[in-house]
Amino acid sequence: MGKVLVMLTAATAVLACSVATVMVRSRMKRRRKWRRVVGILQDLEESCETPLGRLRQMVDAVAVEMQAGLVSEGGSKLKMLLTFVDDLPNGSERGTYYALHLGGSYFRIIRVYLGGQRSSLQVQDVERHCIPTSLLNSTSEVLFDFLASSLQRFIEKEGHESISSQDVKRELAFTFSFPVKQTSLSSGVLIKWTKGFAISEMAGEDIAECLQGALNRRGLDIHVAALVNDTVGALSFGHYHDPDTIAAVVFGTGSNACYLERTDAIIKCQNPRTTSGSMVVNMEWGNFWSSRLPRTSYDIELDADSLNSNDMGFEKMIGGMYLGDIVRRVVLRMSKESDIFGPISSILSTPFVLRTDSVSAMHEDDTPELQEVARVLKHLGVRKVPLKVRKLVVKICDVVTRRAARLAAAGIAGILKKVGRDGSGGGGRKSDKQVMRRTVVAVEGGLYSNYRMFREYMDEALIDILGDDVAQHVVIKAMEDGSSIGSALLVASSHSVRTIASV
Ligand code: BGC
Repeated sequence: MGKVLVMLTAATAVLACSVATVMVRSRMKRRRKWRRVVGILQDLEESCETPLGRLRQMVDAVAVEMQAGLVSEGGSKLKMLLTFVDDLPNGSERGTYYALHLGGSYFRIIRVYLGGQRSSLQVQDVERHCIPTSLLNSTSEVLFDFLASSLQRFIEKEGHESISSQDVKRELAFTFSFPVKQTSLSSGVLIKWTKGFAISEMAGEDIAECLQGALNRRGLDIHVAALVNDTVGALSFGHYHDPDTIAAVVFGTGSNACYLERTDAIIKCQNPRTTSGSMVVNMEWGNFWSSRLPRTSYDIELDADSLNSNDMGFEKMIGGMYLGDIVRRVVLRMSKESDIFGPISSILSTPFVLRTDSVSAMHEDDTPELQEVARVLKHLGVRKVPLKVRKLVVKICDVVTRRAARLAAAGIAGILKKVGRDGSGGGGRKSDKQVMRRTVVAVEGGLYSNYRMFREYMDEALIDILGDDVAQHVVIKAMEDGSSIGSALLVASSHSVRTIASV
């Protein structure tokens, strides 16, 4: 009996030991996996670092590249495109004008009425629609027919007060948010699609002509009077309300900036023929590149998988189309290297399935249990992850967005440096060092207006770069629909110039 008891005790002890060993092993395994995931996060943080010194190098690089792009065609990755916009609207414009805006994810149609004073501007009608994804790789005919039919419906809905009853031809601005080599204010050819559009037959086509053709085919009496990049529209709108506005930046699906440059600095353009002595230059800064950019393996993979690899490197780090996909790639790598996200979700492997608005929702989730993060992860096929894993996801969003916002700030500071408004006395005018003029930069786009953390990081970095003394003279002004309204204003101002000239 005693022997049996001893054996039983021994067996129990062995069992207890084995159970303990298994538990310890599995805990160690879990810890190892967790450490691996934390390691991935640390690597991400290190490779996304944007200390002030690096941002300042970027500021210099942006200013240098801007200069190079102004000297010769192809002299820089920054295209520095001429826009033929020399006179910005000033408030005296009159009439009713239209704008059709093809952006990255949305298109808008608006009608504005101008009564000859700033305060009389009325946006009488505005329609916003998502761009059907089927259009992105359709044909030129399908795309322009779609735009023309949308415009036709908009016009048919106009009341009896519309200008058609006054027997006046409608004047339209085409706000086209893609790189165009302009040949005049109202004509220009598409250089390359960006932001997922891929209608190859259109590169090299005159965009305004394509739209005009589609409008004519529908018998619409509308004249495409201006072809305007969205940044240029935003600058025009900003300047209309505040003449200290010298640059505009779009942070939307894509990203880009334009600014007002002295014509004598645009060396590649021999005969700019402007009356004001300056011209708006569309930088196409999405294509900016510098070895100082903090590039990660996720950026490299994203670029390789994109429709426009080796292009738009800066845009792929700061554009709304891409931030979500960078976060997705990090989460996917973590889920492949450990099971903290459960079985690998096939949804998570789908490119662009995580949109930047979901990133901002997760990043700004202030519920104690991070319910918003749980909701978004569930949509990605990742269920029931513990709170500490949800916190990890928030951290990934933070790292990716903070880098984007700080790089964006360096881009803006680069423009200020180029035009001598960064307090360093650059821009070729000695006196700029002593007198800091009020400088307004118009900003448009959902990434800036809807993503508070992006906005805060960007504003903070700009102050860090410029220093308080200079930053107090720089105003970042957010706008909504500014690029569309501003494009219509450009038609109005070119119209009044023509009207005056013909008197
Ligand atoms: C385009 C620019 C545009 C920007 C913002 C970029 O992808 O190349 O022309 O201004 O997106 O919409």
